[in-house]
Amino acid sequence: MAFDLEMIRAVYADMGSRIEAARAAVARPLTLTEKILYAHLYTGQAKQAYERGVSYVDFAPDRVAMQDATAQMALLQFMQAGKATAAVPSTVHCDHLIQAKDGATADLAEANTENKEVYDFLASVSNKYGIGFWKPGAGIIHQVVLENYAFPGGMMIGTDSHTPNAGGLGMIAIGVGGADAVDVMAGMAWELKFPKVIGVKLTGKLNGWTAPKDVILKVAGILTVKGGTGAIVEYFGEGAENLSCTGKATICNMGAEIGATTSVFTYDEKMADYLRGTGRAEIADAASAIAAHLRADDEVYAQPERFYDQLIEINLSELEPHVNGPFTPDAAWPISQFADAVREHGWPEKLEVGLIGSCTNSSYEDITRAASIARQAVTKGLHVNAEFTVTPGSELVRYTVARDGLLDTFAEMGGVVLANACGPCIGQWARHTDDPKRKNSIITSFNRNFAKRNDGNPNTHAFVASPEIVTAFAIAGDLTFNPLTDTLPGTNGPVKLDEPVGVEMPPRGFAVEDAGFQAPAIDGSGVQVIVSPSSDRLQLLEPFKPWEGTDLKGLRLLIKAQGKCTTDHISMAGPWLKYRGHLDNISNNMLIGATNAFNGEANSVRNFAVQGDGYVTVPQSARSYKSMSIGTVVVGDENYGEGSSREHAAMEPRHLGVRAVIVKSFARIHETNLKKQGMLALTFANKADYDLVEEADTIDILGLTSFTPGQPLQARLHHADGDTDLITLNHTYNEGQIEWFKAGSALNLIRMMEHG
Ligand code: F3S
Repeated sequence: MAFDLEMIRAVYADMGSRIEAARAAVARPLTLTEKILYAHLYTGQAKQAYERGVSYVDFAPDRVAMQDATAQMALLQFMQAGKATAAVPSTVHCDHLIQAKDGATADLAEANTENKEVYDFLASVSNKYGIGFWKPGAGIIHQVVLENYAFPGGMMIGTDSHTPNAGGLGMIAIGVGGADAVDVMAGMAWELKFPKVIGVKLTGKLNGWTAPKDVILKVAGILTVKGGTGAIVEYFGEGAENLSCTGKATICNMGAEIGATTSVFTYDEKMADYLRGTGRAEIADAASAIAAHLRADDEVYAQPERFYDQLIEINLSELEPHVNGPFTPDAAWPISQFADAVREHGWPEKLEVGLIGSCTNSSYEDITRAASIARQAVTKGLHVNAEFTVTPGSELVRYTVARDGLLDTFAEMGGVVLANACGPCIGQWARHTDDPKRKNSIITSFNRNFAKRNDGNPNTHAFVASPEIVTAFAIAGDLTFNPLTDTLPGTNGPVKLDEPVGVEMPPRGFAVEDAGFQAPAIDGSGVQVIVSPSSDRLQLLEPFKPWEGTDLKGLRLLIKAQGKCTTDHISMAGPWLKYRGHLDNISNNMLIGATNAFNGEANSVRNFAVQGDGYVTVPQSARSYKSMSIGTVVVGDENYGEGSSREHAAMEPRHLGVRAVIVKSFARIHETNLKKQGMLALTFANKADYDLVEEADTIDILGLTSFTPGQPLQARLHHADGDTDLITLNHTYNEGQIEWFKAGSALNLIRMMEHG
């Protein structure tokens, strides 16, 4: 049994009293989001009310899921915590590194060779630390989580932005960076700004060509790509009860496209059916027994406008199928207006490829509905005018739909079945094309459609729709086709496609021969983690050195960054992602995108220890100072470190000898990440002091021996002309974070506590 029934029962056992305490603290009826969040406070029962959109709160998620790209550094770091096993049930899913090229079998074999060292590492480290390992080909993280681990009322984090998919099973599931996964696996609190709650009331019932996907395509059009920021979207209403569980998951999955923290549905019979259908009847029973906790209080549903920060209503009976795009998922077009939009905007009308499946849309229902359209291509003698691919979300789904003859239907239509992996959804697509820059159109049932996302071609116009609409378009090969109204030329004259017909759950049940799961060793203490010392993609981490117990004197300025300095400027993505498991190699991208305030150039800084004019790249300068045991300081502007929660942006400076980052202001997550790595994250008490920092300065950081919450530190700037300036530096360290600094990192502290 893959899921952890005891853990779920324990969560449910506490839920009632925790919700009661929360209701008393908040003194009003609770939304479902609040019930789940208050039931997962790190400190136990609520003792106070938290303000939505304002309060920072420590949570204790029930699970962690990691995909193979982000899991590498997360697990390398986790090893530093000195724990025997992960503190909560955790899993690794090998889905991102498989390139789609020639079809499932060949592509999987190729990936197994190409990524062998990464897979060997992930398999062995999972085995050692009690972490479930899903092999390459087992499926895409979110689909596998839905089938095996998601549970109503639970809370999980996952190192991938579409983790919210599990909201289809009533779970608060949030996409995070690797550092957050490390915290939770190491038993630390996980901090989140208490989200706002957007209510979406669904009435009516889907019919005809309209699918669950169209709900989120419509919501994306209403809220736009930013509209969900800082909020959890909560779906409810009689319309929601009419949606399949997997359809709900599709809607939650794409909540990431509106920037939502996550999305969640009220527990209902459809969820219970799905749990039973996927071998989890005990969870369905346990959830049904506490169903009142798995929905908002009745007063909320009676007067939703009073209790949600924003309320949207959608009547499913009237909802049209949508096609969203190109280049952004919030450009929402009802199908009746799409053909005109294509013509007006001059988007390429010829459709080159239709792609269905992915983590977003590869349920049994999706596949049966799409297959009911594909079948008509054969039975009605239609020519299929575009390429067509199918990406099953998991081996469980693939095996089941193959058994039921559905993959044969796609093959008859000329479709190619790709590996159970991300593939074209994440740009892992060796697309067959004569010109990789050509302006062209594709349509997918995936979630993201930003420029270059699928095939790297900035001129590919990618549209997003339901799998059945994608299939119909692939047959037509023409973006101005409307399957609801138009005909296609068949062998015996024009034919119209019949409406799709789907089946929510396989009538003969799900089946699989090898789901691709490797359970970890019961006792992993003797398991060897496999990392080749000669690898350029993976490197075991060395613990960072603890604080030496004195003020830091004679530090050199590494760079004074001017203007915007995001985590991308600090640790660039793109080709560097290959090295995300190798701290030393990826550190060669450290701050190469930041603008040097003294010469206005990127990746060109003065180093006072090298020969010549002293201008070198930022990593070169850092390495030269490090080799001489000279610590360095990074100075920055406003909102330093905004962007992603990428932990590399904090680990790289730490690795290359930066001791303090002093800025006008920080992006909060990056500030915390720096603290976790044992660095000093400080702000100018007087922002104008930024101007006092000169290129040739040496810098002392003073006051560390009495480092205390709320007490500023100081820096003495020694200028080249012999002058000095003493400036005040603020900080936001609490007691625990000061201990991180002293220990050299948060993980060092955990290890010390673990082993005395
Ligand atoms: Fe992400 Fe893979 Fe889905 S790339 S969007 S998890 S298919």
